[in-house]
Amino acid sequence: MTATTPTKRATTEDDITAEVLRRYEGTPDPRVKQIMQSLTKHIHAFIKEVGLTEKEWFHAIDFLTRTGQMCDERRQEFILLSDTTGVSMLVDLISNKKPIGATESTVFGPFHRDGAPERELGTNMAEGEERGEPCIITGTVTGLDGKPISGAKLDTWQADPGGFYDSQRPELDHMHMRGIYTTGADGKYTIVTTRPVHYQIPSDGPVGEMLRATKRHSWRPAHVHFVVSAEGYEPVTTHIFDSIDPDLNGDAVFGVKDSLICEFRSHTQPSAESQKLGVKTPFSATEFNFVLAPAKK
Ligand code: BEZ
Ligand code: FE
Repeated sequence: MTATTPTKRATTEDDITAEVLRRYEGTPDPRVKQIMQSLTKHIHAFIKEVGLTEKEWFHAIDFLTRTGQMCDERRQEFILLSDTTGVSMLVDLISNKKPIGATESTVFGPFHRDGAPERELGTNMAEGEERGEPCIITGTVTGLDGKPISGAKLDTWQADPGGFYDSQRPELDHMHMRGIYTTGADGKYTIVTTRPVHYQIPSDGPVGEMLRATKRHSWRPAHVHFVVSAEGYEPVTTHIFDSIDPDLNGDAVFGVKDSLICEFRSHTQPSAESQKLGVKTPFSATEFNFVLAPAKK
């Protein structure tokens, strides 16, 4: 008899769970075995707990089918589903534990694009943007020892002042509101952009249906995305959030961490720096220092 030969027919609700678990007993990879058996236990327990009806099962299959059908190179509805159900942040919290003092991570989200333009320090990643308040973001990238990291890359992206990413605007034929900045010998960086705005995550698909059916909102508090990386260090995928945003406590994707909240100060008079950078008044400015943990050996 092989490991997958049934010993008896599954006739009761408990028999079937035990039999499915038994059929994974021969899985060669121990991690795959653990995941499949645990998944089986939890899904079966969930179905029994809610007494899932056949009609609800059909509805779930249709929902997941439409979620997959909505995915293409510009739209990732499955990641959105993971984000809005707290799964992405749970995985982040489990797998990205950083040493004390290192910059915390948060959700990657679906709007990163490979191949963003390399930009000189102090240049404007919102160039050509007529809307929004100009904003200067400065800071230093250091290691845990406080030493500046020269040549660290800050891959940065942000929604435009209307609350949309460039990939949500089919009329745009170039990358907008994104760029890769590289720190100088002193580890410092300066980014010119517009002050981030809060925006709604895409709600025209199955995820939007779920949010409406459960009376949940779709707002994300104003933020700028970063992946900060440097040779010899663990990269960090993170955001900085605007401290005055009313949605900080209700982020649709649960991504806010206290250490990532920054004060964006409003300036009604030009400063030496804004003049040097050619930034119009009024503008806002914030400072955020990124601290990278050493790469795992
Ligand atoms: C974002 O911040 O770009 C994002 C994150 C998760 C879901 C949708 C958008
Ligand atoms: Fe975002």
